[in-house]
Amino acid sequence: MIVREDRYCIQNQDLLELCQNYGTPLYVYDGAKIEEKVNTLKNAFKGIKMKIKYACKANTNISVLKLMNKLGVEIDVVSPQEMAIALKAGFSPEQITYTSSGVSFDEIEECVTENVLINIDNLSSLEKFGQKYGNSVPVLIRIRPNIEGGGNLKISTGHKESKFGIAIEQKPAILDLIKKYDLNIVGIHQHTGSDIKDGKTFVNVAKVIFEFAMDFPNLKYLDFGGGFKVAYKEGDIETDMKDLGEKISASFSEFCQKYGKDLELWFEPGKFLVSESGYLLAQVNVVKENPTKTLLGLNTGLNHLIRPMMYDAFHDVVNISKSAESSKKMYDVVGYICETDDIAKERELPEASEGDILAIKNAGAYGFTMASNYNARFRPAEVLIYENKAHLIRKRETLQDILNNQVLVDF
Ligand code: LLP
Repeated sequence: MIVREDRYCIQNQDLLELCQNYGTPLYVYDGAKIEEKVNTLKNAFKGIKMKIKYACKANTNISVLKLMNKLGVEIDVVSPQEMAIALKAGFSPEQITYTSSGVSFDEIEECVTENVLINIDNLSSLEKFGQKYGNSVPVLIRIRPNIEGGGNLKISTGHKESKFGIAIEQKPAILDLIKKYDLNIVGIHQHTGSDIKDGKTFVNVAKVIFEFAMDFPNLKYLDFGGGFKVAYKEGDIETDMKDLGEKISASFSEFCQKYGKDLELWFEPGKFLVSESGYLLAQVNVVKENPTKTLLGLNTGLNHLIRPMMYDAFHDVVNISKSAESSKKMYDVVGYICETDDIAKERELPEASEGDILAIKNAGAYGFTMASNYNARFRPAEVLIYENKAHLIRKRETLQDILNNQVLVDF
């Protein structure tokens, strides 16, 4: 987002005009930002064979997926529905990995039928996979490295108590299954968590994976998962991609030599690619002067962006209807849901009037995908700005969408 003569723009699109054209609340994504992030990651690892597998749970809009595909990114899905959207967006089955976690075996079969690569995270499913497919279908396994990572416990997945992955201590059981069913394990995967604060976590993960991988002779891929940290406000720490690229590339090359084969290194970022590209634009419905504070009540809430409520996540807020130079006041920004859905607390913002538009930043990842129809409210429209053009990529819902699958009982 840039400011041009007091007007807030993405590329050459004026955000207030977008609100007039498409209404609010509105999710807007900057395609150029996504491209920049893809290139940053590619450049950091350009010395080795690295593939980006976009963790599309962060943002599954089919046009965002199409853009990823155009940018040479591949994709990680976690349900047959995400797989179907990825296929419709133009990904070929070989570009898709299904990272299943505690799913029914039917889902795994459904994805095998589409020739998508499967990543399995428990011994029971691996046994079923062996029984059904033997060595005829290649498979990845997700291990749990027993490493603490992630910005908070809710989004940490690599530690000892986590439900995810096959514990590294269970390697003998995996090797037994390989022997029993002649399984063709082509990749080892792990994902430590989201918002990983310390780049060293990836270095530690690498050590665990490299050691673990030596017992698996058919490998083609090592998948280090996602979780790169993005900045939520100015001065916030973020993953130093250049430094990480240098460290991991060096140890990966060393490992490949030792292993005796050139493997592919995969990452599965979600937030890193899309978080900063997205803005949730919402209107100030009410300026509420309480005795102790002033509230700005927006026409959005936890139904559209649950991250503040669910993880106490910080999202920067900008009043795009007012000049950044205008006089400021302290506000709490709250939602319109009948729950305490604080969006941003104690923020100094330009003095606001009812009707002003606020831009909530870092809304590109886990924004719309975690949105709901709570309070029977419509989910927002979405717009993607690409090469200076605004594209409506999801229409605003209507009452019909909410009623669609409901059945009025015939008493
Ligand atoms: N790979 C796997 C297997 C994952 O489970 C995830 C995220 C990712 C990759 C991508 O992680 P990322 O690069 O986006 O951090 N809703 C939470 C984040 C949950 C992440 C779930 N798994 C939030 O809004 O912070």
